[in-house]
Amino acid sequence: MTESTPVRRAQGLTLVMSPPDYFDVSYAINPWMDPAQWSASAELLSQHARDGWKALRACYEGLGAEVLVLPPVSGLPDLVFTANCGLVLDRTVFLASYRHPERQPEQPHGRAFFDRLKSEGYVDRIVTPPGGMHFEGAGDAIWDAHRGVLWSGFGMRSSAGIDRVLAETFGVTAIPLELRNPHFYHLDTCFCALSQGEVLIHEKAFSARDLDVIRERVGADRVLVASDDDADHLGVNSVSFRDAAGRDDVVLCYATDALRGQLRERGYDVHVVDLASFNRSGGAAFCLTLRLDQTTR
Ligand code: ARG
Repeated sequence: MTESTPVRRAQGLTLVMSPPDYFDVSYAINPWMDPAQWSASAELLSQHARDGWKALRACYEGLGAEVLVLPPVSGLPDLVFTANCGLVLDRTVFLASYRHPERQPEQPHGRAFFDRLKSEGYVDRIVTPPGGMHFEGAGDAIWDAHRGVLWSGFGMRSSAGIDRVLAETFGVTAIPLELRNPHFYHLDTCFCALSQGEVLIHEKAFSARDLDVIRERVGADRVLVASDDDADHLGVNSVSFRDAAGRDDVVLCYATDALRGQLRERGYDVHVVDLASFNRSGGAAFCLTLRLDQTTR
């Protein structure tokens, strides 16, 4: 009998999404969330969420991405935000450890899903954060392929010091950025690394010191600044990649003409998908997406 070598998957753009079958706003763990407002038009908002999610998936698939589905679980409305279930880099999964009790039950479902991905050849290794530390996945750990660094958000959800653990785990430089504005509670709500090397930020989410760190590292001419209007619609929470056709894309839920213009001028194809129902939970395109294909090489 010959032993077959396991297939190594996730070479191209591979994304994890989880459908909003049980998505709603039934608790409030950030200032975007208002359960009373949600329940006042729950049916309409749920339908809108399902439509938005399908459109986002179709957008990715249209650009050549493979989308893997994390099964939804009743009673876990925020499981749709797959960016939080871990960070995947070099086929290693660094699992989440959620801060809020409302989201902690998501963790074993993420774990089981990654175990499955491991047996199917998508990832090689699953590691957990040290006891007592919180980590909310790719939402707070943004891989900057251009510079080979991890931007590491902390202060609202992920613990201070998580940057050092990430740096050690992945053998890369991790740059801590402190979050202190409750509206921009995950790094991905106010910081996006674009596929050609620019970063898109919302300045008001950061201290003057951290803004200096960002400008110094990225180069001031490559820091794109999102307006309040863009940021307040979670337009910064965007996904950028080079697609199967070799084009650089930015997928986001909202962009003012000014932001669209800036992105197009830099050579990006801009794809706007309405995700307003997810904004009511404090989420948008990046939150609904977890990349499996990112590597440090
Ligand atoms: N309601 C969710 C929470 O507060 C939204 C998470 C959005 N995810 C993200 N990566 N920003 O945790």
